[in-house]
Amino acid sequence: MSSLNKKFPRLLPEPIRKGMKVADLIDTAFKAYNGGRLAEACRLFTGKMIAGEGVVGMSLTGALTPAGLGRSAIVPLLKAGFVDWIISTGANLYHDLHYGLGMHLYAGSPFLNDVDLRRDGIIRIYDVLFDYDVLLDTDAFVRHVIQGSEFQRTMGSDEFHHLLGKYVAERERTLGIKETSVLSAAYQYGVPVFTSSPGDSSIGMNVAAMALRDSKLLIDVNRDVNQTAAIVYGAKSGGATSSVFILGGGSPKNFMLQTEPQIQEVMGIEERGHDYFLQCTDARPDTGGLSGATPGEAVSWGKIDPENLPDCVVCYADSTITLPLITAYALSKAAPRKPKRLYARREALYAKLREQYFKHGQVAKIEHRTDIEKKAKRGRSGRSVTGTKR
Ligand SMILES: NC(=O)c1ccc[n+]([C@@H]2O[C@H](COP(=O)([O-])OP(=O)(O)OC[C@H]3O[C@@H](n4cnc5c(N)ncnc54)[C@H](O)[C@@H]3O)[C@@H](O)[C@H]2O)c1
Repeated sequence: MSSLNKKFPRLLPEPIRKGMKVADLIDTAFKAYNGGRLAEACRLFTGKMIAGEGVVGMSLTGALTPAGLGRSAIVPLLKAGFVDWIISTGANLYHDLHYGLGMHLYAGSPFLNDVDLRRDGIIRIYDVLFDYDVLLDTDAFVRHVIQGSEFQRTMGSDEFHHLLGKYVAERERTLGIKETSVLSAAYQYGVPVFTSSPGDSSIGMNVAAMALRDSKLLIDVNRDVNQTAAIVYGAKSGGATSSVFILGGGSPKNFMLQTEPQIQEVMGIEERGHDYFLQCTDARPDTGGLSGATPGEAVSWGKIDPENLPDCVVCYADSTITLPLITAYALSKAAPRKPKRLYARREALYAKLREQYFKHGQVAKIEHRTDIEKKAKRGRSGRSVTGTKR
């Protein structure tokens, strides 16, 4: 017999039983290929990412909230304290509003006649259907809310979504509905929600239209870049792990990962990268696009700590399948965590990063980390060492 049995568990799944629990099914029947990766994803999320004080960022792309995943999976994850901060496409936050405002979306079919749908005022996202009025009413809600005095200034997208979430939570209360919306739950649990492209959604479109009137609302992307880096720096410098849970890919994936190069490459602060990387996607790595870029590639950029690369997981499967399963697995295997309420700490986290930046950062080129290591080695072997000028 080869030495395989010493290195790997035998592949001999249990037969699936009537009434089997989700977590048991995943542990016993998801053994290979993307089923195997999904089981690893469940164990990574539950056993390492949310362990202890680990800080978990989640990035959302793809049409997840229109499919109801906000209510079914993301809100329960926020409520359990398993996700501490979010970067989302504006689309997911916009369509989340429909649920928070008590509007109706329908499980339809992808095989309908779109010309007929257009004539009948029906919008289609693959097999999700809703009336055109859902868009018009949601747009009116956004325009109405952002006329308020607290919106008349420049702010980060986390602050903007927090304020918007307050109004969604209020509307949920008025309607007698609860736990329907990601923005409302994020507001209630103090979870910062960013968007990487504020203009690229119907929320941004309404903000832009109101700027043609007299709205002073402007989303400060520089603040977002630094604030997201501040969350990661706060976790790592405080001794906690920083994990990324990436659904899909796109610009939110990069916005979440670039926090580490922002700290190391741009600000000159020493750091090793995010600790754990979990991505569920359909994007392939061989096109060079960031959506499909692997955790290994991210290591080369300093985005991921090389030491934890063996723990990183990419599961090539639709998020509408993976997210509910990972959520159910985590909720059944791990105790809820106290929400970290990072939103309330945003100013303190920002100030801490700023202070470190002024200590280590500079305008001129920052010395390459490997150069510093080489010089340190030469120093140890008795040759002269040049200090790191920052
Ligand atoms: N009305 C609106 O507000 C509206 C509507 C749609 C899109 N948009 C905007 O368009 C931009 C693109 O958004 P997008 O979400 O369509 O991203 P996208 O289509 O660019 O997808 C990003 C990545 O995620 C992957 N992906 C998408 N769905 C997936 C799934 N179900 N499972 C696994 N992987 C999946 C894709 O293959 C891709 O690699 C965003 O800025 C968004 O705000 C706005």
